[in-house]
Amino acid sequence: METILQFKNVYAGYGRVQVLADLSFEVKTGEVFGVIGPNGCGKTTMFNALLGLITPSRGEIRFGGADITRKSPDERCRMGIGRTYQVPRPFEHMTVFENVLLAAVYGGRHSEKSGYPVAEAALRRTGLSGKRNLPSGKLTLLDRKRLEIARALGTEPKLLLLDEVAAGLTESEVHDVMALVESLKQDGQTIIWIEHVIETMVKSTDTLMCMSTGTQLLVGEPAAVMDSKEVEEVYLGVEDEADVC
Ligand SMILES: Nc1ncnc2c1ncn2[C@@H]1O[C@H](COP(=O)(O)OP(=O)(O)OP(=O)(O)O)[C@@H](O)[C@H]1O
Ligand SMILES: [Mg+2]
Repeated sequence: METILQFKNVYAGYGRVQVLADLSFEVKTGEVFGVIGPNGCGKTTMFNALLGLITPSRGEIRFGGADITRKSPDERCRMGIGRTYQVPRPFEHMTVFENVLLAAVYGGRHSEKSGYPVAEAALRRTGLSGKRNLPSGKLTLLDRKRLEIARALGTEPKLLLLDEVAAGLTESEVHDVMALVESLKQDGQTIIWIEHVIETMVKSTDTLMCMSTGTQLLVGEPAAVMDSKEVEEVYLGVEDEADVC
């Protein structure tokens, strides 16, 4: 499989606070690449660096063969990197459809007219067609998560970034999200998925990376990563501090 994304020895943070330290990994086209790691280890920061919201002080990020380390967030979105937010943040006064159309028009490369079918497809894909005219603020948490994914799909991403889309959901709702991610994968969608629900990650990902303090601790076949001593230790260390993931 072709490599779609590479982080090469990336250092990045917020002002003087360095979070990512020598982070390297690569993602292949068509895979679901899972990312786990204790709270505050830098998972969302890795997404921020990938999206261009923060600029690495050292290292390189390559996407689709191009060096994107210093490209703007808009350029990266147009190149095909689409994201969900850890905390869903739709425009609440707008309808479900309008939210997704907005993503297709501003995040994608569409006019309002050509964005319509893209938004329709994203709603169908996420099971939200029947709720298209509801104000987004009226949605349940599960549907807000679906809408986050639909908005990301509206930008027609080559690479979809999911940040804790299963967080806060009941067990059966987590299964719904897993089924949705699985169906996106069947469509050939490449996905990086950050999640704390370990069982979900082992079942639903092709490759799993565990991060610890801003760097890669281990990457590989999901069950093997979870069975490793290094990963067990990083989670036990967290438990000792009563900060369980
Ligand atoms: N905007 C910011 N300004 C300064 N520091 C930040 C900012 N955002 C995050 N941090 C710090 O960067 C570190 C990594 O945070 P990040 O959100 O990337 O962790 P995470 O692995 O996504 O955690 P979680 O599992 O809780 O979502 C933390 O110490 C956090 O306090
Ligand atoms: Mg996070």
